[in-house]
Formats: sequence, C-alpha cells, structure tokens
Amino acid sequence: MNKISAIVLAAGMGTRMKSDLVKVMHPVAGPPMIEWPVAAAFAAGVERCVLVVGHQQEKVRDYFAGRTEVGFALQAEQLGTGHAVRCAMPEIEEDAETVLILCGDTPLLTADSLRGMLDAHQQSKACVTVMTATLDDPFGYGRIVKDADGKVVAITEQKDASEAERLIREVNAGVYCVDRGFLAEAVARLENNNAQKEYYLTDVVCQANARGLACRSYQVADPLEISGVNDRVQMADAAAVLRQRINRELMLSGVTMIDPSVVYIDRGVKIGRDSVVYPGAVIKGNTVIGERCKIGQNALIEGCRIADDVVVKAGSVLEDSLVGPEAAIGPMAHLRPGTELSAQVKIGNFVETKKAFMGVGSKASHLTYLGDATIGRDVNIGCGTITCNYDGVRKHKTVIEDGVFVGSDVQLVAPVTVGRNALIAAGTTVTKDVPADSLAIARSPQVNKEGWTLRKK
Ligand code: UD1
Ligand code: CA
Repeated sequence: MNKISAIVLAAGMGTRMKSDLVKVMHPVAGPPMIEWPVAAAFAAGVERCVLVVGHQQEKVRDYFAGRTEVGFALQAEQLGTGHAVRCAMPEIEEDAETVLILCGDTPLLTADSLRGMLDAHQQSKACVTVMTATLDDPFGYGRIVKDADGKVVAITEQKDASEAERLIREVNAGVYCVDRGFLAEAVARLENNNAQKEYYLTDVVCQANARGLACRSYQVADPLEISGVNDRVQMADAAAVLRQRINRELMLSGVTMIDPSVVYIDRGVKIGRDSVVYPGAVIKGNTVIGERCKIGQNALIEGCRIADDVVVKAGSVLEDSLVGPEAAIGPMAHLRPGTELSAQVKIGNFVETKKAFMGVGSKASHLTYLGDATIGRDVNIGCGTITCNYDGVRKHKTVIEDGVFVGSDVQLVAPVTVGRNALIAAGTTVTKDVPADSLAIARSPQVNKEGWTLRKK
C-alpha cells in the first residue's frame, strides 16, 4: 500500500448553525463533529491528517492536541475549497503518493467507503477519483459530467450549471483521492472566474482532463453517507444515524437493548455481553461497562468504569466514578466524581456520594449524603446519614472503619474517624472521634409526660 495523507476542510464558520461555536466543534453522538471523518480516514489507512482550520482554529487545535498524526494548516480567509487545499499542501509530506480530501462536516462517511474508494483509485490508476452519489434531488450539489467511457470530464456547481447539467442526478460528494504531485501543481493554478468568485477544488478535474490524465468516479453505496451538516436539523438527523450504528454494533456484540431507538450511547463507550440497557439510558464519555450489567431506565452515566454484574436502577446519575462487581445502585442515586465503590456495595434511593470510597459489601440504602469519606468493608450506613464535610470554608474528611454500624439520622461532623466495629446510635451527631468497638450516642434523653394531651383538650 502506498502512503496516503488526508486533508480535512474545516475552516468555515457554518453560519446556518446560528451558533457562537464553529460548526465542526459541535458534539455529535459524543465527540465534536470533525472527529468522525478524521477517525474514518485513519481507519481507512490514512497515515496523517492535515486539518484546514480558520474560524476558531484554537478550539480545533486544542481538541486534537497531542495527536501527532494530526497536522494543521491555516486558511485565514475562506476563498473556496480549492484555496483551502492550496493552504494545506505545504503540510503534506512529499513521500505521500495519494491525498484523500474530505470535509469536517460529513460525520456519516464510513471507513469502509473510504477504503473502497482508495482501493478503486489505486486499481484504476486514475489521477483523480471523485466520490459520487446518485440523488433523487441533486439540488445544490456539484454535478458529475462524464464522457462516453464513464470518465469524469467536469464537475459543475449548481450556480454555474446549464439547464442540461442540472438534470444530472449524479453528484459530487466532496470527497476525492488525488495523486499528490498533480494536486500540488493543480491547486496552485486554480482561478476564481465563476459564479461564486471562489477557488473551486472541483476545477482540478478540468485540469487533469486538459493534461490527458484520467478522472474516475466512485459511487458510494449508501447516499446517506455523504450528507453534510449545515444546520441543527441536519445535525440531529446525523446524530440519530450515528447512534443507530453504535447501538447496532453493541447489540451484535451481545448487549440487549429493550428499545434501541431511545438509548443514547456515545462513540467509544464499551459494554460487555449479556448486559441489558433499558429505554432512556444515556451513556457518555469513555464509560466502560462490564458483562451482565443492568442499566435501568433513564440512567445517566458519564466517564465511569463499571465492573461485571452491576445493577444501575432507574433514574440514577453516575459521573466519573468506579463501581465494583455485583454492586447495586439506585433507583435515583447520584454518584458524583471521585466515587469508588468496591464489590457488592449497595447504594439505595436518594443517596448522593462524592469523593467517597466504600469497601466490600458496605451499604447506604436510603436518603444519605457521603462526601469526602473513606468507608471500610461491611459498614452499614443508616437512613438519613449525613457527612457534614464543609464548614463554609474548607472540606474535611470522614473515616468510617470496617464493620461499623451507623444508625439512622446520624450526622458526622468532619474531620472525624469512627473506629472499627463501633456502633453509632440513631439520631446521634458525631463531633468527636469514636474509638473502635464502642457505642456512640448523643441525643437528649426522652421524657414522657403521661396524660399530657388529654389535659390540653
Ligand atoms: C462543495 C463542492 C460541490 C459538492 C459539495 C458536497 C466545490 C467547489 N464544490 O460545494 O461540488 O457537491 O461540496 O458537499 O468544492 N471550506 C473551507 N474553506 C473554504 C471553503 C470551504 O474550509 O474556503 C470547507 C467548509 O467549511 C466545508 C467544506 O469545505 O466544510 C465544503 O465547503 P462548501 O462551501 O460547503 O462547499 P459546497 O459549496 O457545498
Ligand atoms: Ca460554497
């Protein structure tokens, strides 16, 4: 295989998005839109991608920072697709034989199609291969003009096309394979004498023909793949297709989805086999979920690592947390960042945790806040327990050692340590460390006044 570099056009603002954020940085099924075509290019065998950036270039550069296989070229003024490629050429290595050109706003393009096109380009020995699709309504796209042998002789933009050309339904997808040496010379010579006063990349086809070099087309199997995103309606449509692909792949790998049309899983999420995902679940970030888990209705999981045999019940929110095997969470629990639950931990309804570690088999079953806490194994946290971790200025730690039983309605005023196997009586406000094996009780003794309510009547 010869060396292939890619150019991804992403300098435009995308005004139809009506957004303060540049179009290609809008998230689509997880990552920014531009991640999708870039990832497809690499998956198809491209070694290096040069992104043509302009509007909000620092946002695009920041997102790809640290990825040495991604380079950048600045196009300060958007003078057309041909001008964009001209700006990128100095960044393309001379030993690249073929340049793949694509757009940052076509997230549905697959690696399979790009691979097919690259193979076809190599086999036909064409100088230029253009990806095309045949549409029922070709309006707005460049039309593919061919000769009797099926060679591409020109690509004519909607605004420049004649009546006859406008009837052509085979359109330019905006994706090309071009021999690098020819491309470098051709884009240097482009002119902007057309309806939009732009430097059209499509004019390289005419240049190739003028020099007797072959231009071929490669029809994409599914025209849906070439859909570009121009506004937020098209972005939602594209996201729906990408989610369908993600869900389908997960299901084929052994994950059950009760209704995949209402399950929202980001690119990159991993879920083990025989796990079941219920309707309304949203799973984001680099979440990894093990085997035989149940992800309940309307659960929101982001940036978590969840082991095997975990049950996340309806309405729970889990953020940047680790969950050990056979743990049970929810319904309506909230694991905030820095939560680490060991095996068989139980977190019940209306329990919130934050920077909290819980040892094997510990339970907090109802109505509890555990923040900045280290909790040992086999600890029972009673209903209504609160770690009072914040004094208005600083956060303080609560340590609860193995085997402790915390009764209901207990406040632990941090910093405080409860020694192993201690028992905290219900209703206690713990303000001092509790030694191991002892009972802590802090509540006023009860007084019964007999006959009191009768006398009040
Ligand atoms: C282009 C093609 C058209 C094709 C269509 C497919 C040309 C002249 N026409 O038209 O034949 O059917 O794509 O979608 O190439 N961009 C830059 N810098 C620029 C101009 C554009 O980076 O100076 C980027 C845009 O941000 C966008 C992409 O290139 O991501 C395509 O540009 P756009 O103006 O949308 O091209 P079309 O007019 O749709
Ligand atoms: Ca245009």
